[in-house]
Amino acid sequence: MGNDRNLPSHVGIIMDGNGRWATNRGLDRTHGHREGAAAVRRAVRTARAKGLRALTLYAFSEQNWGRPGSEVHALMGLLQDFLVAERDEILGNGIRLRAIGNTSRLPMLARSLLDGLVAASKDNQGMTLTLALSYGGQEEIVEACRQLAIRVSNKEIDVSDISVAAFRKEIPSLDVGEPDLIIRTGGDFRISNFLLFGAAYAELHFTDVLWPDFGEADIDEAIAAFQKRERRFGGVGGLHRPHHGA
Ligand code: IPE
Ligand code: IPE
Ligand code: MG
Repeated sequence: MGNDRNLPSHVGIIMDGNGRWATNRGLDRTHGHREGAAAVRRAVRTARAKGLRALTLYAFSEQNWGRPGSEVHALMGLLQDFLVAERDEILGNGIRLRAIGNTSRLPMLARSLLDGLVAASKDNQGMTLTLALSYGGQEEIVEACRQLAIRVSNKEIDVSDISVAAFRKEIPSLDVGEPDLIIRTGGDFRISNFLLFGAAYAELHFTDVLWPDFGEADIDEAIAAFQKRERRFGGVGGLHRPHHGA
């Protein structure tokens, strides 16, 4: 158990390793995704109990659409089941649900369940749970460029108004602030197109634990590792914390 001081406010998780978890057991990859959904439930409960302000879960990337149709179909089914099963848990615990990514690509049922729960939970004051669905960090940055270009061409802003601060406002994943800590399960050391813009000064924590096995002790370990880091944001450390996010 880490102490509660210096708790990360916003944690992002790249939930990887479902397929390998299943393959290791001689099971179909879909079984791994089902166990992965149970791990999502656990992670949300744990994050809320620890008092995190925001949790962003990478559930499905824009690139994951390229997987076999049967796997994509199974994942969308699990998303629908999750949104039905967790409705009471989310609303009953003051969790605010959001989604980032190109959710218009989701099947109609998943999208309507998602939109309904996002709307029903929008005024909740507890932890913000963001699901990254059909999400890509590059895609999110390109869309921000497009939005700024539209505003320039409408003469709402000038080219000289384009700054990091202006750009940041067009990045939906940062509505809850920059991620302080990004965790990746499954043993690979990469970002795989998650929260690229916001990851600028995030602390990164990689673990070999496969996502379906990820539990409270693993979150504790990641938070404890975070609490030992010294974040300098390009400065010299100590008490002189430079202004962050121009
Ligand atoms: C993560 O597990 C879930 C999604 C990407 C949807 P994977 O399905 O990528 O599992 P591995 O990496 O193949 O083990
Ligand atoms: C990242 O995992 C995406 C999610 C966890 C949703 P991937 O399995 O898609 O990433 P790569 O292919 O290993 O980079
Ligand atoms: Mg993977």
